[in-house]
Amino acid sequence: MTIILGIESTAHTFGISLVRKGKILSNIRRSYTTEKGGIIPLDAAKHHQENKKEIYFEALESSGVSEEKIDAIAVSQGPGLAPCLLEGMKFAKELSKKLEKPIIPVNHCIAHLEIGRTTGAKDPVMLYVSGANTQIIAYSFFKFRIFGETLDIGVGNFIDNFARYMGIGFPGGPAIQELAEKGKKFIELPYKVKGMDITLSGILTNLRQKIESDKYNINDLAYSMQETVFAMLVETAERALAHTGKKELLLGGGVACNSRLQEMCKIMCKERGAKFFCPSNNLLQDNGAMIAFLGEIMFKKGINVQGKAINELDIKPRQRTDDVEVKWR
Ligand code: ATP
Ligand code: FE2
Repeated sequence: MTIILGIESTAHTFGISLVRKGKILSNIRRSYTTEKGGIIPLDAAKHHQENKKEIYFEALESSGVSEEKIDAIAVSQGPGLAPCLLEGMKFAKELSKKLEKPIIPVNHCIAHLEIGRTTGAKDPVMLYVSGANTQIIAYSFFKFRIFGETLDIGVGNFIDNFARYMGIGFPGGPAIQELAEKGKKFIELPYKVKGMDITLSGILTNLRQKIESDKYNINDLAYSMQETVFAMLVETAERALAHTGKKELLLGGGVACNSRLQEMCKIMCKERGAKFFCPSNNLLQDNGAMIAFLGEIMFKKGINVQGKAINELDIKPRQRTDDVEVKWR
């Protein structure tokens, strides 16, 4: 029976998980956070370096599996922050050498999507909303095709920046959701949908000016930001459902933890007779389980790197979702 270990380290989180037959045996993660200010890549990498061994042993212990039983090591190869990716790749190579097992290089974004299979979604339109990425994706002929995306920043980074302007540390998403729940008055903000794409930097500038003017209640601003930006996401996701004729919507990525976004997606799906799927929060934010889960699927199709080829294996900080040839579907 195959046991795959997954390593995630593309940005703020270092995570390790063990998966057997699609079942998640353990999913341990620790995240770099700040009190004030955004993520500093070298500091995040240091966090990973300092925590990786402990997380590894914790993951082994909580799965009840001894390390000799591991058949292959799946690792997030990209996209992500280079110093953070390097920590994961270095650790994967160390383990591969020690255990004499192959490495499965996994695309982080596709792992965010494929973990959605655990919810029962079969052929969905995917709304992938995370720190660096915001994309509407659907699978067709060996590629995850991008139907629409942000033309500037990812919605998670947008929310984290908005939070930073209010003096809130990283990650800002959960704190902003709390403020938004207390908001009462809707403040008009720019609404920027261009065809299937969206832009966010103009809205961010507008919000920054509003914060600096001190004329607005911050709860109302957080509430209005969520209502506006999530409506943009739901609008493009709905259009993708209409275009593709698909009947399922799947949420993925850390911003999908937001309960208001989930609610708005649910309403849209209900109105058009589509099914809505969303993994649990510990599978939405960066985690090793999604890497191990997709790693196992790839490994079963014979995708892995062995022997000397492992020395050539490198990180891919800028790898795009639609560059990856999907040989496992
Ligand atoms: P990518 O997958 O694009 O490389 P990432 O790995 O940094 O990005 P994730 O871990 O998938 O991102 O998501 C992190 C983001 O999710 C952060 O920007 C964080 O603020 C946001 N987030 C987490 N919880 C919430 C929430 N409840 N509401 C809104 N945003 C949230
Ligand atoms: Fe992510």
